[in-house]
Amino acid sequence: MGRQSHDDVSLDDLVRGEELLFLQRMPKTIELWERAQRSMPGGVCTSWSSSRPVPVWVSHGRGAHVWDADGTEYVDVHGGYGVNVVGHANPAVVRAVQDRVTQGTHFAQPTEDAIYVAEALAARFGLPQWRFTNSGTEATMDAFHLMRAISGRKLVIKIEGTYHGHHDSAMVSIFRHQDLLGPVDDPFRVPGPGVAQEMADMLRIVPFNDLTALERVLDRHRGQIAGLILEPMMMNAGIIPPQPGYLRGVRELTRAHGVLLAFDEVKTGLVVDWGGATRLFGVTPDIVCLAKALGGGVPCGAIGGTDEVMGAIRDGRYDQIGTFNGNPLTMAAARATLEQVLTADVYGRAEALGRRMLTGSQAALSAAGQPSYGEVFGFKGSVVFHDRPATNYREFLGISTGVSHLHFLVQHNGGVFLPPWGKSESWTLSVAHSDDDGDRYIGNVARVAEMVAGLGDRSSELFTAGSYS
Ligand SMILES: Cc1ncc(COP(=O)(O)O)c(C=O)c1O
Repeated sequence: MGRQSHDDVSLDDLVRGEELLFLQRMPKTIELWERAQRSMPGGVCTSWSSSRPVPVWVSHGRGAHVWDADGTEYVDVHGGYGVNVVGHANPAVVRAVQDRVTQGTHFAQPTEDAIYVAEALAARFGLPQWRFTNSGTEATMDAFHLMRAISGRKLVIKIEGTYHGHHDSAMVSIFRHQDLLGPVDDPFRVPGPGVAQEMADMLRIVPFNDLTALERVLDRHRGQIAGLILEPMMMNAGIIPPQPGYLRGVRELTRAHGVLLAFDEVKTGLVVDWGGATRLFGVTPDIVCLAKALGGGVPCGAIGGTDEVMGAIRDGRYDQIGTFNGNPLTMAAARATLEQVLTADVYGRAEALGRRMLTGSQAALSAAGQPSYGEVFGFKGSVVFHDRPATNYREFLGISTGVSHLHFLVQHNGGVFLPPWGKSESWTLSVAHSDDDGDRYIGNVARVAEMVAGLGDRSSELFTAGSYS
């Protein structure tokens, strides 16, 4: 299919052209995917790898770069959904894992590394006590359980649109279409597939960045709310930072109502700052959930709490359990990550590179007459093809899915591996990324800018409406 003239080309045409190029580059990926479908549903290991036009099969990674099964090299800003902040095959993590693997990898009894990890997390997040899990899902599940076990109450407040993992308490009202959200002041509680409505009904949903709505729910259900869980910075809707004073207000309101506060820092922790969003914004919750970057690329999770909260584990009101919790391989990798790689000095450099990427991208977009905004926090950042920053999930839904998908395709075809879910995700850099890596990203944004500018008058329409799905 040849590129069409600007007079008759549509966004769909641009997407189709880039998808075709994408597929033509990947005969081996397509072969693996077709074979995998015979033994794995959808031909993938997790449904959220099922991206369009084909889930990319990876061969290996080194530093800031990954290679797909067809041998093509990319700058990796997917980061395995925000995990690989240490870079691929980081020497310190490789050494720690290799040393550990020769001494046994599992006992279901603690090993010394766990103490170093817990102490490092206590210093970074200002919460004294830590336990370990194997994923972010398990960490937030423990947070829900702890809040309910301690308070003896059922209801938990959750922010509209946020994802906290795939357990029953949390799989409610995420990734909904605008029409399925319900009234702003009392959003629908929609369970995910396989989750009972009764579980959904134990939640109360409020928009992010809205203290009035939070106060209204706390007042309406006085004495019934166990806790509030939130990402201190929304990270599954691009990046939506808290507005000034929001987190402090959340802390004050939850204290005033005797409601526990849990920060889900699965994506932000150790990534946006040395001490996560907790340290960055200077607001300490009762519970912090971690996963992703903590393990330096090995499955991991952790939950930290105040002495009062973790006392419920000490005295047996809540059994925090799991065969693989504190697995020696994970603890060795996490210790190396914290002590040798994600040290305090690496965040400034990552943020400077992120700013360079954002500034360069916005300059290219603006030269093509396209509106944009963006965010950079430590290793995370995003460029959003939209005129107004979203402050909550409903506003985020107004951003064009089609342009974001086109961006993913153009980046991929231009040698940059973005997370596949377009507008929902952001970039994750690592300690290994260089200015050259960032410049490749900027060059691809410039291409998107030109392509979309070529749509002429229709481009502004596409940037403001969710017109492609
Ligand atoms: C904010 C947040 N919490 C929890 C989770 C669940 O983590 P995991 O996939 O490790 O279970 C995720 C995963 O993307 C997440 O983004």
